[in-house]
Amino acid sequence: MSPAKYQTMGQQEGRRSWAEPWKIKMVEPIHMITREERQHALDEAGYNTFLLRSADVYIDLLTDSGTSAMSDRQWAGMMMGDESYAGSRNFYHLEDAIRSYYGYKHIVPTHQGRGAEQLISKALIQQGDTIPGNMYFTTTRLHQELAGGTFVDVIIDEAHDPSSLHPFKGNVDLNKLQAVIDKVGADNIPYVSLAGTVNMAGGQPVSMANAKELRAFCNQQGIRVYLDATRMVENAFFIQEREEGYANKSIAEILKEFCDLTDGAWMSAKKDNLVNIGGWLAVNHEDVFEKARNMVVIYEGLHTYGGMAGRDMEALAIGIEEMVDDHHVHARVEQVRYLGKLLTDWEIPIVVPAGGHAIFLNAKKFYAHIPQDHFPSQTLAAQLYLDSGVRSMERGIVSAGRNPETGENRYPALELTRLTIPRRVYTQAHMDVVAESVKNIFDSRAQTKGLKMIYEPAYLRFFQARFEPLR
Ligand SMILES: Cc1ncc(COP(=O)(O)O)c(C=O)c1O
Repeated sequence: MSPAKYQTMGQQEGRRSWAEPWKIKMVEPIHMITREERQHALDEAGYNTFLLRSADVYIDLLTDSGTSAMSDRQWAGMMMGDESYAGSRNFYHLEDAIRSYYGYKHIVPTHQGRGAEQLISKALIQQGDTIPGNMYFTTTRLHQELAGGTFVDVIIDEAHDPSSLHPFKGNVDLNKLQAVIDKVGADNIPYVSLAGTVNMAGGQPVSMANAKELRAFCNQQGIRVYLDATRMVENAFFIQEREEGYANKSIAEILKEFCDLTDGAWMSAKKDNLVNIGGWLAVNHEDVFEKARNMVVIYEGLHTYGGMAGRDMEALAIGIEEMVDDHHVHARVEQVRYLGKLLTDWEIPIVVPAGGHAIFLNAKKFYAHIPQDHFPSQTLAAQLYLDSGVRSMERGIVSAGRNPETGENRYPALELTRLTIPRRVYTQAHMDVVAESVKNIFDSRAQTKGLKMIYEPAYLRFFQARFEPLR
């Protein structure tokens, strides 16, 4: 039973069932295709779910990025787009929304998250610098490397263990951070790269206590802390649910308190902010703002649109106002957990506790007979698509890529397949269909063989690599 503040009117009367805090006003039909057609589509896509056409997909759990359903208010806002080249009123609305809910002083809009990652990396990193962080993220690390830096993982050990029930597996290990400082010196660390609801660890949160300790530690060392705020609202929900002293604080209050512990944030607005495109960088220090605002005109667009249309900024500003609704966040995380529970009831190995945005299947355990060099997570994503048209994503050796210095494959401890739930899009019935399909391929797993990579692009290979099945 949900805590009192999340109870539906029926639950307030002692009844069992819970339902989403929204109703559907517009629908997008999806269609089914046959197994032969799915096999053909998979061959054409080189066994990479990123290369499938969405028309060939039934339930699309590739990503929660840019896949949210917007609200009627957001769509109304789209009609209020001020498409002036400079000084659009929608930008000022967006600036106000970021300042009120995240609390940062200076805002630079970008076309999406990686645009902001490029700006912050170029503004702060010098050749040879080290950037410690709570687990890498693909595009974040690449921008840090392209700017001349080296990312070092300082997340707690539990994050690398899919079965650890630690409530805050996204926490930074301060001893690991100290060891990095001892090795390279605080002067060569431009900032700590802190992510909320750590994506690559399975959507695992950082506690407020850990963020406070990190802030105090970094203050002593003279190191700044910048936040990947992409899924910080989900992180706030976990703090509210699990951390002492936060049960009666709102998501908005927790979000603000957490952001106040950092010097700025980059954002893929395509997630928490409930829009299909957009991003931003927000910082407190004038010097960083000055550099980023100057660079944005080179890479993204003028500093009052940064690659977004006026209407996109309006939908984004409204999305920020809607994302902090406690009932919305609760519904979102509960849907993820509903899918997780169906799977764990069937003893299918997933990362626990279930994360904020996705269920991560533990492909190393699922396909224990497939070595990591034969891409178990990629294989699982392909098999799931073949079985039911459900699209998921690899988060294992393919995503980890190669060490830029040695050219060797990186072998991450976590070999996962991500079932990512878009916000406000699918129903419980869709989750039932997904779970049954996962069970079906789990039951026949012994017959499944791995894959061979036959094309590998230079950067972010998971997006475009091609595979063929091992016979
Ligand atoms: C944690 C995290 N950071 C950054 C990004 C990059 O954002 P974008 O895809 O908008 O460029 C993503 C996108 O998936 C993400 O999940």
